[in-house]
Amino acid sequence: MTEATRRWRAWQQAPWGRLRYTQANANLARHLPPAPATVLDLAGGDGADALRLARQGHDVTVVDRSAEMLAEAEHAFAQAELPVRLVRADLADLPGSVRGPHDVVLAHNVIQYLPDPAATLRAAVDLIAPGGLLSVIALNRHAEPLRHATQHLDPAAALAALDTDQANTQTFDTTLTLHTADQVTAWLPDCALVGHYGIRAVTDYVADNDRKHDPAFFADLERLELALADRMPYPLLARFFHLVLRRGNPDDGPAAIS
Ligand SMILES: C[S@@+](CC[C@H](N)C(=O)[O-])C[C@H]1O[C@@H](n2cnc3c(N)ncnc32)[C@H](O)[C@@H]1O
Repeated sequence: MTEATRRWRAWQQAPWGRLRYTQANANLARHLPPAPATVLDLAGGDGADALRLARQGHDVTVVDRSAEMLAEAEHAFAQAELPVRLVRADLADLPGSVRGPHDVVLAHNVIQYLPDPAATLRAAVDLIAPGGLLSVIALNRHAEPLRHATQHLDPAAALAALDTDQANTQTFDTTLTLHTADQVTAWLPDCALVGHYGIRAVTDYVADNDRKHDPAFFADLERLELALADRMPYPLLARFFHLVLRRGNPDDGPAAIS
């Protein structure tokens, strides 16, 4: 296992990583069609979201460019004795590398790494059946200054973060581009926004990470996060934004809110 994958796994197992998946699952549960729906998890990594959905009876496909991540996904699904289709592909090659249509397409925690995320998400929409769902989770640019000020106690870095969309990730040791929910919805005029959530509205602004490992504290934090997820204005400042969009019928013109 590479060092990056080890750091990724540690992040997933940390309280803040667990919250990311619990909250995504709770948000999606409000919108998903009854199982079995076909779910395509783009850049699905080691399959953490897809596995939750497979456990709920959905028929899942995980696409990722990393052989190591897909091997982790294969292992996780084998252990759970659940079926999965794994496709090794770069999202730049969509839609050719993956067959559609799917009832639900996920693009979770990936657009920050992509050279042209708008084009990739539009290609992803082409893989969704009319009326189907696109779920996008991404790092929220608005959270970056707050995180520097409160988590890192670094107001100078917070000030600098106000005027840039570039940031660094320690997990994958690379530079990434931050976005806002408004930017992403503007890229997708053929989709109707049916859910706008925040993931981790307060967790990243509590500087004491040790406290988050205390089960009683974490249980309270999780209850709070689940309650804040769709209560404006908290989603606007959460560490991740989570958008659920419905693909319109191409014959109907712009998609209507439903
Ligand atoms: C932060 S991980 C997120 C994994 C998963 N979506 C999740 O949230 O648990 C980012 C994933 O995106 C994949 N990735 C990044 N750029 C990609 C690309 N251009 N095409 C396919 N996969 C990509 C990486 O290999 C990695 O598995």
